Amino acid sequence: MRPKQLFWIVKILAISFLMFMALVFVYTKLYKVRMDVQERSMRSRQEDTDLPRQEELLSKLYYEKFADLAENHLLSKYPVHTACKDEKRPAVPCYDTECGTSLTHDLKLSIGSLLSVTRKSRTAFSNPHKDITAQLESSHLAIITGASANHFAESQGLIQSLHKNVFPKFNNISLYYYDFGLDKGQLEQLMRHCRCKVLKFPVHLLPTNATRNIKCFAWKVLIIEAHLTKTDMLIYADTSVRFNSTKNEDLFTDLANKGLLLSLSDRYVRPVAHNTAPSMFKYFNIQPCSVANFQELEAGFVALLNQPFTRQVLVQTWAACAMDPNCMCPEGSHDLQHCDGGLRKYAKCHRFDQSALTLITLQLFQDYYSSFFFDHSYYSVLRGDRPKYFEALNKAV
Ligand SMILES: *[C@@H]1O[C@H](CO)[C@@H](O)[C@H](O)[C@H]1NC(C)=O
Ligand SMILES: *[C@@H]1O[C@H](CO)[C@@H](O)[C@H](O)[C@H]1NC(C)=O
Ligand SMILES: *[C@@H]1O[C@H](CO)[C@@H](O)[C@H](O)[C@H]1NC(C)=O
Repeated sequence: MRPKQLFWIVKILAISFLMFMALVFVYTKLYKVRMDVQERSMRSRQEDTDLPRQEELLSKLYYEKFADLAENHLLSKYPVHTACKDEKRPAVPCYDTECGTSLTHDLKLSIGSLLSVTRKSRTAFSNPHKDITAQLESSHLAIITGASANHFAESQGLIQSLHKNVFPKFNNISLYYYDFGLDKGQLEQLMRHCRCKVLKFPVHLLPTNATRNIKCFAWKVLIIEAHLTKTDMLIYADTSVRFNSTKNEDLFTDLANKGLLLSLSDRYVRPVAHNTAPSMFKYFNIQPCSVANFQELEAGFVALLNQPFTRQVLVQTWAACAMDPNCMCPEGSHDLQHCDGGLRKYAKCHRFDQSALTLITLQLFQDYYSSFFFDHSYYSVLRGDRPKYFEALNKAV
């Protein structure tokens, strides 16, 4: 063989080798991408199959809750009010006989509808306050309140009634006070006297301006959700709440039995059909006239037992609504704050957390939503009451 021939053979062999290596490289790359795609689609398929399983679990918790209430004779029916056509007062609950639809009593449809409308929010958003739970000590009873500077004086009355009437009854109680803009002096006084833990809620992590607004009350629901796992019983109380000195043991027995205590206003008889924004009705697929008979729940005092139903069905659904920019506080909802008591009109105004809580409990329990009402003599609501409790404690020292 002449040297020139040998040179060409070596050259061809080298080029073939390089081309072969290049092919192998390209093929392994392509193969890896294909595997990645396959793996990802498998994972998402798995999530898809996990979702129905999760929802089946939530449905089961709900069926069991309903059955448990029935078994323990704790279901109580809300009355059917006067027909709207015969009701003279403009803005009270009344039975709309012209309404073509009604809330379904089929438990499977009720929970199915709630889970499907909140599915996106339950999977896409997570509670921005969830990190707090790791830092909380477990307690038997947790009480939560919160105030900005202008409700600081009112909150001293709540703290006084807790110190006097509730603290002595429990040796494992935690009081959490959310600071929504107290001034420096107030904060100092609070930390000195409240026997509480002062916390802040990361409002800036909420998804939209409307949900970050303090009057949206998304924070309230998300705080409740974050704390509920770290206590046996949880009470959220507005600063105007005063615990009664007598009889409040019954409150805790009642809570242990029902798992949830909800209240109607003693002062106003507000129809939820009037006091809920059109967009929220649309979100939940509920016709205003189908809930015309029902009064709106208050959320200034809510008591919850840490049990799977309250945590995973009720509170999780409420929180999903709080986090969804289209549910609790859609853009423009803050223009609907004023509820005209002289006007008969569906969806004329909006009550945010209360509207959501009412629609969710109605969807779940229909005319049995009153099963969770309770005797209000356990506490009273004194708006504008501004006792100088901390000043008195200062003097006493
Ligand atoms: C307080 O109660 C919680 C919940 O029951 C419990 O985990 C914790 O150990 C209790 N702490 C004390 C000091 O008893
Ligand atoms: C959101 O709020 C900020 C500050 O209050 C304001 O500057 C901004 O224009 C608002 N955005 C929208 C979309 O309303
Ligand atoms: C406290 O409870 C007692 C006994 O039930 C009741 O008579 C009283 O009116 C209650 N006080 C308030 C402020 O609700």
